[in-house]
Amino acid sequence: MAAAVGHAGKRTAIGTGNGVWPSIRVEPETLPAPGDAVEDLETPVLVVDLDRMEANIRFVQAYCERLGVRNRIHIKTHKIPQIAARQVAAGAAGITVQKLGEAEVFAASGLGFEDIFLPYNLLGAAKLRRLCAFLERYPGIELSLTCDSAVVAEGLSTVTRKTGRNLKVWVECDAGLGRAGVTQPRQALDLAGIIEQLPGLTFGGLMSFTADAEPSVAFMTAALAVFRGAGRPAPEVTMGGTRQLRWVEQVPGVTEHRPGTYVFHDRQTVLQGGWSFDDCAGTVRTTVVSRPTAERGILDAGSKAITPETMGLDGLLGHIVEYPEARLYRLSEEHGYADFSAYLESERPQVGDVLAVVPNHICTTVNMYDWIVGARNGHVEVVWPVAARGRVR
Ligand SMILES: Cc1ncc(COP(=O)(O)O)c(C=O)c1O
Repeated sequence: MAAAVGHAGKRTAIGTGNGVWPSIRVEPETLPAPGDAVEDLETPVLVVDLDRMEANIRFVQAYCERLGVRNRIHIKTHKIPQIAARQVAAGAAGITVQKLGEAEVFAASGLGFEDIFLPYNLLGAAKLRRLCAFLERYPGIELSLTCDSAVVAEGLSTVTRKTGRNLKVWVECDAGLGRAGVTQPRQALDLAGIIEQLPGLTFGGLMSFTADAEPSVAFMTAALAVFRGAGRPAPEVTMGGTRQLRWVEQVPGVTEHRPGTYVFHDRQTVLQGGWSFDDCAGTVRTTVVSRPTAERGILDAGSKAITPETMGLDGLLGHIVEYPEARLYRLSEEHGYADFSAYLESERPQVGDVLAVVPNHICTTVNMYDWIVGARNGHVEVVWPVAARGRVR
């Protein structure tokens, strides 16, 4: 589908050959086909073990149901509508997106996403124009948003005036992450009041994404007290994160959770979240293209195939499934550098061997691929385009 872009006041589309963005012929890639053996796939390739993915979806759905919180899955991990549809079919109560462009892709997929939460400050005339267009184009979709300032809320109110659509707006709270969000419970109450006074807006509740339990519990305890003190009903509370699932039930008043990474897991959720490498559904398969020294192996997956983020872990860049003691210590663009000195020389991989790497951060790794493979019992079952890849606006 051609994507609309603005240029010099005109609306045009990528690849239309109108001189603004000249069209060129793009050689189509040969994709894997259902039934292909995973071990024969050209590398680097990101493969999802479907049995593990489905087990992860079932586990977290049941977990949220046991806690009595709605499971509003975050699609940023896979950006693939077909996977979100499986999560919703398993019981998820709607989807979370981080960008309007992701909402557009998921709405247009036709897979029935009727309840979309976008917890990000939307600002600026161009963005708000797109938001109007989205609301007018999808009258059946309930899109709820967040703000952490009156400026954002006022912009959203202008959108409701133009479209005649009301919007539910939550207040983003920074309960200790040091990112966006009001930092004081009192500010959350004040902003809730501003939202309610603005035409077309209703207050949804409090939204937070925080790494640790203690500050989240402290913030929400204080926020609920402030709302109570003002004679207001307890607001809904939506929290997020996969590692945070371990403690989310301690947060007073929590009604919803937004996990994303759990669908595939990664080295971070294993090392910091208590999951196991056996839960990791997404791996990058990579070929050993060189063994320049006795210890070193060079992989054909560099920083354009595996995220170079270290994620505050141990400085290594991934877990090599077949060689768990090996150290993936560096990624240049097209080369991964692994140290196999923990193994006897006779056990070390040979040139041409294919290895599977669990990346530190699966979400940004998936975002590097045009498509990824879903496999079962060693064979390709499906190839998914990463449909919302690149939708950074
Ligand atoms: C606002 C928000 N909600 C939910 C999530 C999901 O977190 P995770 O991928 O750790 O499950 C994130 C992750 O960045 C986020 O930023």
